Amino acid sequence: MAPVTHDLVIVANRLPVDRETLPSGRKVWRRSPGGLVTAIEPVMRTHGGGVWIGWPGGAGQKLKPFEDDGLSLVPMSMSQDEIEGHYEGFSNATLWPLYHDLVAKPEFHREWWDEYVKVNRRFAEKAAELAAKNATVWVHDYQLQLVPQMLRDLRPDLRIGFYLHIPFPPAELFQQLPWRRQLLEGLLGADLVGFQLPEAAANFVRLVRQRVGHKTHRDLVYLPDGRTVRAAAFPISIDSAGFEELARSGQVVQRAKEIREALGNPRRIFLGIDRLDYTKGIYARLRAFSELMRDGHLDVEDAVFVQVAVPSREQVEQYRILRDDIERLVGRINGDLGRIGRPAISYLHTSYPRDEMAALYRAADIMVVTPYRDGMNLVAKEYVACRVEEDGALVLSEFAGAAEELKQAWLVNPYDINGMKSALLDAYAAEPKELTRRMRAMRKTISQHDVKAWAASFMTELEDVGGHTKNPRPATRS
Ligand code: G6P
Repeated sequence: MAPVTHDLVIVANRLPVDRETLPSGRKVWRRSPGGLVTAIEPVMRTHGGGVWIGWPGGAGQKLKPFEDDGLSLVPMSMSQDEIEGHYEGFSNATLWPLYHDLVAKPEFHREWWDEYVKVNRRFAEKAAELAAKNATVWVHDYQLQLVPQMLRDLRPDLRIGFYLHIPFPPAELFQQLPWRRQLLEGLLGADLVGFQLPEAAANFVRLVRQRVGHKTHRDLVYLPDGRTVRAAAFPISIDSAGFEELARSGQVVQRAKEIREALGNPRRIFLGIDRLDYTKGIYARLRAFSELMRDGHLDVEDAVFVQVAVPSREQVEQYRILRDDIERLVGRINGDLGRIGRPAISYLHTSYPRDEMAALYRAADIMVVTPYRDGMNLVAKEYVACRVEEDGALVLSEFAGAAEELKQAWLVNPYDINGMKSALLDAYAAEPKELTRRMRAMRKTISQHDVKAWAASFMTELEDVGGHTKNPRPATRS
């Protein structure tokens, strides 16, 4: 029997739910971590009728397509070798650090690349099988950069969009990659390649000109076969109204109160919520906070730092090292500065559902988001959406994509510990009027640019550029 085909196919490395095996051996579904799922899920819901292809986590899980909460999901199994080579290796120990400013040293291994190619091919074949004639296929993120061209070879009738959720590095870094040309050519299979920020799109176009030799003009690439590819920025966002509604719900208000009480009703609660990732700058931020306590600017009776570290990529060595480093630091800080019933840092190595996150955002006076490099950072936007009383302070790294929009945050350079200390203190001491002025402006920004607007602008552009007609070749090209 021929498979049912769809007009919209989402292809991402992960499904929105992750199949986990508990220590008892029982298998459960959990919501997948990270910003990608947070953003795409509401898009799929508004486009009812599409299908989402992705990995359900774990090795060798052969699962049939299924519906989850109204979404049509098609699980792609991965073997242990594919997990090690494609996911933990090439995606997360080569591309991830390379695309994040070399915050950690990327490793280059030919066997990892081979697995990456293999997995990309399987995803492309599955998308080709499930897409209806002239359907739209939207491919997501760095784990699947070869899919657009592989898919175009199989199905030239499709309209193909690609979106990179993480930063795209400058040419000086990207060209270290032994497979730089293949990746660029893979992406050029798309009609539209979307990035978080305009500089990323410009980096891509420059690299295509230099390394592949295609003609380009501004944000357009002209391929020898007559096709035009557009590269542009589409800063991603969140379901602002959904978060706001959740934050206003009686249950979340009550839970926020309980959280404050459980922490001993301190004057100020600082909050960090991040995947436990070395790009997030967790270590430096905790040091900055602890130094403020050690130096007497803050007192453990008045302030506490709640750090939620969401488990992530635990088989990758750099992530294990990071976890050990952070947990040692938290232990040392609490040992030095805490008192009975009053730790300086309340550290939680876990992930929470959306309503608990909303309660934490409501409970926290100062949200601290200090990545060394981050494509966007949706946690910063979620915090703003949940501050329905127009209070609370956001301390935000200049190197998060979100800083381009949330300009009224206390912006910091995460490499500058003293600078972070003074921003934390300023936010701690800010007058209510000042907090409201800043928060009101940021709330306006995110209510206007929510995830629906993001998806709609990407889809509209994809329709325009995919027709090949809207952008005739200019007479002069750079
Ligand atoms: C980031 C990436 C996503 C990824 C997520 C979680 O948000 O952009 O592609 O899915 O992190 O990471 P994981 O490795 O658990 O999928």
